[in-house]
Amino acid sequence: MSYSRITGTGSYLPERVVTNKDLEKTMDTSDEWIRERTGIRRRHIAADGERCSDMALAAAHQAMEMAEIEPEEIDLIIVGTVTPDKIFPSTACIIQRRLGIRGCPAFDIQAACSGFIYALDLANRQIQTGAAKTALVIGSEILSRLTNWDDRATAVLFGDGAGAVILQASDEPGIVSTHIHSDGRYEDLLHVPEGIGTSLEGLLVEGAFIRMDGNAVFRRAVATLGSIAQETLANNGIDKHDVDWLVPHQANLRIISAAAKKLDLSMDHVVVTVDEHANTSSASIPLALNTAIRDGRIERGQLLLFEAFGAGFTWGSALVRY
Ligand code: COA
Repeated sequence: MSYSRITGTGSYLPERVVTNKDLEKTMDTSDEWIRERTGIRRRHIAADGERCSDMALAAAHQAMEMAEIEPEEIDLIIVGTVTPDKIFPSTACIIQRRLGIRGCPAFDIQAACSGFIYALDLANRQIQTGAAKTALVIGSEILSRLTNWDDRATAVLFGDGAGAVILQASDEPGIVSTHIHSDGRYEDLLHVPEGIGTSLEGLLVEGAFIRMDGNAVFRRAVATLGSIAQETLANNGIDKHDVDWLVPHQANLRIISAAAKKLDLSMDHVVVTVDEHANTSSASIPLALNTAIRDGRIERGQLLLFEAFGAGFTWGSALVRY
């Protein structure tokens, strides 16, 4: 059996930046409230006409450049997204066409904010079994289009962006282990109510935006991220002090701090981008990872713990020797 390792990372953020101060002008909120409750200072918002695949492709090109690979070498594409260009075909198939390649499997995975971890898990297993050698794994989201800009309880939390990694077969890990879970009982705590309904009437009306019970989600996220970290370390017989960097899903600084505390990890060893990017769902971990690799904080040989939590609820983790 082979292992897989991350040989390239990339990301993309839309040009337009919306600060908390900007939001103060359009809704009853304040920079102070948003910073204190979430740690968010600003977010990037996609331009009109900009699509999930545009952002994903930009991130993919950066990752391919770092890995020094050509599109023809990619034999698996998985995109984690809840905001695909179209209901079908998948954004992964659109990326495949835009990369000028064909034949390899390409599909999207919908696991909300855990989408990247789910995609990484699947890609890693494909490489482990020899079914793939070079995988392009992307998280790309335009959550601004699922945001009700009149609902201050959710509108301040989300942003747009994309992150990508190239995973390649290797004799050594690489990805040490991945863990994914879900529990569908919590559907109504965090959801976009409208989808393909039972009739044409009433489609795409007020239910087309994110709805959330913030307090309940907060509590479950903290508890679940604590247990997934524990599960990951125990599974590998690794002590929490061996983790060099926590790269968590970026939803809320208070959730991230609680996760770090459970690991006895100083915030100096936690990659935080939520202040700059807000919650970009499945894009948040690869965005944070790429940021910390490119600014030199994360170095080759270090042990990284990724962990995510999202609607479903879904959650997951990856232990990675970079
Ligand atoms: N600006 C100003 N006030 C706001 C506000 C905003 N943007 N949003 C809500 N408020 C108000 C509420 O109306 C409430 O007012 P009230 O006390 O008069 O009723 C008050 O602030 C406190 O609201 P509450 O919901 O208790 O705040 P909180 O401390 O729980 O923080 C969240 C709210 C959403 C930041 C927090 O619950 C959270 O981060 N939850 C998890 C969300 C998440 O990460 N989701 C994605 C998971 S992948």
